[in-house]
Amino acid sequence: MEFAKRIDFLQANVFADMDRAKAKARAAGKDIIDLSLGSSDLATAPHVIEAITQSLQDPSTHGYLLFNGTQKFRQAAASWYEQKFGIAVDPETEVLPLIGSQEGTAHLPLAVLNPGDYALLLDPGYPSHAGGVYLASGQIYPMPLRAENAFLPVFEDIPLTILAQSKMMVLSYPHNPTSAIAPLDFFRSAVAFCQQHNLVLVHDFPYVDLVFNAQVAPSVLQADPDKSVSIEFFTLSKSYNMGGFRVGYAIGNSQLIRALRQVKAAVDFNQYLGILNGAIAALTGDQAGVDVAKNTFRQRRDTFITALHQIGWDVPTPAATMYIWAKLPAFWSTNSIEFCTHLVETTGVAASPGFGFGKFGEGYVRFALVHDPAILKIAASKISEVINATKSTQF
Ligand SMILES: Cc1ncc(COP(=O)(O)O)c(C=O)c1O
Repeated sequence: MEFAKRIDFLQANVFADMDRAKAKARAAGKDIIDLSLGSSDLATAPHVIEAITQSLQDPSTHGYLLFNGTQKFRQAAASWYEQKFGIAVDPETEVLPLIGSQEGTAHLPLAVLNPGDYALLLDPGYPSHAGGVYLASGQIYPMPLRAENAFLPVFEDIPLTILAQSKMMVLSYPHNPTSAIAPLDFFRSAVAFCQQHNLVLVHDFPYVDLVFNAQVAPSVLQADPDKSVSIEFFTLSKSYNMGGFRVGYAIGNSQLIRALRQVKAAVDFNQYLGILNGAIAALTGDQAGVDVAKNTFRQRRDTFITALHQIGWDVPTPAATMYIWAKLPAFWSTNSIEFCTHLVETTGVAASPGFGFGKFGEGYVRFALVHDPAILKIAASKISEVINATKSTQF
């Protein structure tokens, strides 16, 4: 059977390889400490579960849901933005419910790119950003993120010939996998750059609440209050521990919202109303759980960083997200896939190879802080076995 060429681009998936390495380690009797997936282990708040449970009992929630049926959700999303960022949002034209932000960011290129057009993506970056561009038969120009630039892209480095063929730029801060935060001034220069070069500015914003030195991270809409070029994607997966429920929204430029809505209308009938009701309860109800999540990840970060320092792995302390982005120790080769495969097969500790997030992620590994501090300490001591064994064979 012959398949479309675009599928070829989707096949190289380092994470599937890691999944196999985990299965092999499990079959060999290793206890797996899985720090490879950024799926929160924290529980969804009881008032959210209650709203979903009540909806389940109500047959009027069981049918297809068209745009008008999502009005209460769109209003809740607009109010949440207004409260957090002081930005006025029209729930009718500037908000669109999504089945998770991954779904939205992967579908948007279908609305923006013609085949062959370029999208400017962060490298390393979240894999579905590239996946969406490939599905739209677009091309990717990777904007390298380097430690010396605080993991922010340098717009001036993008060649003019590429810019002339580019339609969109995708940013995402606080950043997965590097954990970098972008200041509001950075977003101001991104907005000016995109206005100048006629680019759509996409901002994927799942970690808005998981910042440890401020209340929230800056929104791109604060830098583009007229929503001239920008669209932002929020998910309830991280702030409200609702990853499995698949719910998020896009917010921003009304033409982009309309175009994405047209693409989605060909694909889905929105998320189940009961889950949207749960999301409304999350966005409008008691916010104490957001601080609990933030404090939990901060405490885990501190424990794991201290433990890594104790075993001699000098890793900087991230100011946001639920990840540690660790440069491979100098005595190890820079091959992150080799390191992660070896680590899981010998110790059972699973991490994500930096290469899986793009070629500029090579030489790093990402640890997701999805276990309690006691387990993280055990993971660090297991990691030290691999580090010490490597050191002793090399010196
Ligand atoms: C940058 C980024 N975007 C999107 C997602 C997925 O969000 P959702 O669960 O809403 O699809 C993640 C999850 O880790 C992420 O890190």
